[in-house]
Amino acid sequence: MTGQGAFITFEGIDGSGKTTQLRLLADHLRAAGRDVVVTREPGGSEGAEEIRALVLEGAPDRWSAETEILLFTAARRDHLERLIEPALAADRIVLCDRFADSTRMYQGLSRGDLRAVVDQLHELMIGREPDLTLLIDMDPAEGLRRALSRRGREERFEDFGEAMQARMRAGFLALAEEFPARFRVIDGNRAADAVAADIRRAVAGVLA
Ligand code: TYD
Repeated sequence: MTGQGAFITFEGIDGSGKTTQLRLLADHLRAAGRDVVVTREPGGSEGAEEIRALVLEGAPDRWSAETEILLFTAARRDHLERLIEPALAADRIVLCDRFADSTRMYQGLSRGDLRAVVDQLHELMIGREPDLTLLIDMDPAEGLRRALSRRGREERFEDFGEAMQARMRAGFLALAEEFPARFRVIDGNRAADAVAADIRRAVAGVLA
């Protein structure tokens, strides 16, 4: 971490409530006078938002898993160069909805075991981890119900069903054990304000 800045990511299965929680945290930090940048992946920069449409819209078999890894990593590299790194250099707090852990899970686990490929490309092209990753842990059936109830054009990954949601949930929890120094697991199966209070405590620990 450099000075006042921090890189904080939100992760979790589809429908885990991370986007809502990210906004609540941003409001809280801004009210406390902090300089906050809210962003998301895939996307967050102009070029990466264009790649977002390529990866999230269209038929589920539009890309192979390998091509997808390249597209997500290309989007991330642009996002990092143009938004994340300049913001951190200016001592801002960057709150990012998903980051490389999502690629480790979705592209690394959902169609065979490509985790090593994801990690190699990450090492080569990204080489940065968040200061804090908030994993919003959520019941897979409830997450799927929420995700399906708001589905629109970005539906390539939401056809996967409950079994895949359960695998992703287990994968995220395993990732939290793999990187205990930066992960905090937050129980998302509660009222939004209770979840938000836990998140504020976890963040206070890192910003202190
Ligand atoms: P997101 O916009 O966070 O959707 P939600 O709010 O429903 O969680 O993410 C869109 C989808 O992109 C989500 O299904 C996960 C997928 N994704 C990947 O497969 N790999 C990645 O590297 C990222 C960042 C997202």
